[in-house]
Amino acid sequence: MDLYSPIKLALTKAKEMYEAREHEKAAAAYDKAASLMAIYAEQAIGRDAEMRRRKKAMEYREIAKKLRSGEIEAAGAKEDRDEAPAPAANGAAPEGKNAKAAGEVKAAVLSLIKTSSITWGDIGGLEPTKEEVKYALGITLAKQPVGVQLSAWTNILFYGPPGTGKTLLAAATSHAIRNTDDVPAVFFNVKVSSILSKYFGESSKIISELYGTARDTSPAVIFLDEFESVAGKRDDQDSGPERRILSTLLSELDGMEAKGRRDIYVLTIAATNRPWDLDPAVLSRFEKKILIPLPDTVARREILRIHLDKRGFQLQADLATLAAATEGYSGREIERLCKEVTTRMVAEMNRDIPGLIDKGLDEVRKYQLKVRPLTLADFQKAAAKISPQTTAADVKKYNEWREAQVE
Ligand SMILES: Nc1ncnc2c1ncn2[C@@H]1O[C@H](COP(=O)(O)OP(=O)(O)OP(=O)(O)O)[C@@H](O)[C@H]1O
Ligand SMILES: [Mg+2]
Repeated sequence: MDLYSPIKLALTKAKEMYEAREHEKAAAAYDKAASLMAIYAEQAIGRDAEMRRRKKAMEYREIAKKLRSGEIEAAGAKEDRDEAPAPAANGAAPEGKNAKAAGEVKAAVLSLIKTSSITWGDIGGLEPTKEEVKYALGITLAKQPVGVQLSAWTNILFYGPPGTGKTLLAAATSHAIRNTDDVPAVFFNVKVSSILSKYFGESSKIISELYGTARDTSPAVIFLDEFESVAGKRDDQDSGPERRILSTLLSELDGMEAKGRRDIYVLTIAATNRPWDLDPAVLSRFEKKILIPLPDTVARREILRIHLDKRGFQLQADLATLAAATEGYSGREIERLCKEVTTRMVAEMNRDIPGLIDKGLDEVRKYQLKVRPLTLADFQKAAAKISPQTTAADVKKYNEWREAQVE
């Protein structure tokens, strides 16, 4: 594949969009350039060229991120002539049908790279879990004691009811791992079911490619969401591809340390609502299996604070009262409740809005939205619409499964 023109095009487009102050479009173009540059790095002849190109890809990714967060003003499209891609030498580019398929697998993997801005502070409660994850990271990433080889934590499983912060924890973890240039770890966010349905025949190739790319971009975090759909128990009826996926996954979970490479760090975080459906061989690969439970009173209070206080809403109700009244709610349900309460209040305070819309855009733009402090009654009304979905029996099932894991 000749990448000269597409990378050039993406960068030119990024520059144009940046100059037109279309930051979102510029960011998208930089992301595209980054993905292409990463493939271009694969094709490099020699380690130096490869590393230079990888670095470029990271830089483009960073620019895209900064454009999105509004951090970038004048930094803009810095063009680097010496690393502008040259047309691939004859024979350097892969050819033929297999190469095309390989390119597609690669592109599928690159599309999983996400940057996350979630930090530990965005997660209410779960303090022991945050501590545990930080320990696992620290022990793995810090300098090893002389003459002693500690084993690295490479696989962590989060399980528990829906909406309790499993995805948030994975995102914060990837945000927390930074290399020396302060570039966050590359975060591969894999919603397993969508990969399986889109690339069923190729799934095991995608998994090997995923881990290969992650090793190249080390330190990296691979987040496998809905893990039970890829690592579920197998029986005689299962097809060849499904068995292949499982065996590929097992060998990747065994990791690099087994191969004597301590300089490469790929952390796998898997998440599931149905741990009891997981294959025992896969489960045994996880050094840590952490139950992410429904939030307790203290955690609910913190989650309410994150979704109300931190967004600037005033409260006439006591946070402790609200925390007590939301027993059994997951974090996601509390977030929904807050959203319901705040949108109702805003609608009630700004009844003129529909009329203004009829009068035209200019009228709306001049209008100053009004808010008022939220009361306990507001929450009671909204709570009638949003009730918790996790039952006591569900909670019991998670706890029992946890007990059964202690060996
Ligand atoms: N502990 C928490 N602190 C703050 N917000 C939370 C917390 N838990 C959940 N939320 C809110 O709920 C949303 C969903 O959380 P998240 O995606 O992490 O749940 P999950 O455990 O991955 O759920 P699922 O099992 O359905 O994938 C978050 O985006 C956040 O707004
Ligand atoms: Mg999730």
